[in-house]
Amino acid sequence: MKDVKGFRRAVPSDATQLVRLVRSAYRGSVGWASEADLVGGERIAATQLLEVIARPRSMLLVLEESDALLACCQLEDRGERLAFLGTFAVRPTAQGRGVGRRVVAEAERWATAEFGANVLEITVLAQQTALVHWYERLGFERTGELRPFPADVRYARPKRDDLHFVVLRKVLGEEQASR
Ligand SMILES: CC(C)(COP(=O)(O)OP(=O)(O)OC[C@H]1O[C@@H](n2cnc3c(N)ncnc32)[C@H](O)[C@@H]1OP(=O)(O)O)[C@@H](O)C(=O)NCCC(=O)NCCS
Repeated sequence: MKDVKGFRRAVPSDATQLVRLVRSAYRGSVGWASEADLVGGERIAATQLLEVIARPRSMLLVLEESDALLACCQLEDRGERLAFLGTFAVRPTAQGRGVGRRVVAEAERWATAEFGANVLEITVLAQQTALVHWYERLGFERTGELRPFPADVRYARPKRDDLHFVVLRKVLGEEQASR
């Protein structure tokens, strides 16, 4: 059985592995939710991840298995008890086995514990319909808001001209239980 070390905050020395993890999940050829058919480019650079790790009211959560990173996600405090979940990746060869679901559950706990959040927000490419449906199965709801896809030629080269994000939110904790 593999030694799963569990969740922790990312540290600067994780940056190289994190770049590999995020690029392979978002833009690789393996994995059920890759966006490689929709977007080209590198997705992320180590400098961006280091900035996220150092930024106040922001954190990168990683799940480590043996000495390798299995998954990560970014959490950001957007104020008014709303936390944003992004840069969410599971190693492509490990997808579809419940790791992503565990990361979302853990992110909900950290968002509440670290930022006092009671709402978790994500943005998903509208064209990634399977992904949107998965988040809905996890309890997220579409807000109806659409946001532009920020294309930066190095990190994101759209392969079609209608890419945009849908916004989904999930009410956390007791608020959800009492609804
Ligand atoms: C999205 C992501 C983090 C999910 O991680 P994961 O480990 O695959 O997640 P899980 O195994 O917990 O759940 C996968 C779900 O997708 C479903 N699924 C698996 N293969 C699928 C496929 N080919 N098509 C549609 N759904 C599929 C599973 O049935 C499961 O649904 P369930 O939880 O309702 O049973 C991962 O796919 C990833 O890294 N994607 C690339 C980056 C990305 O898209 N990030 C999110 C941006 S908003």
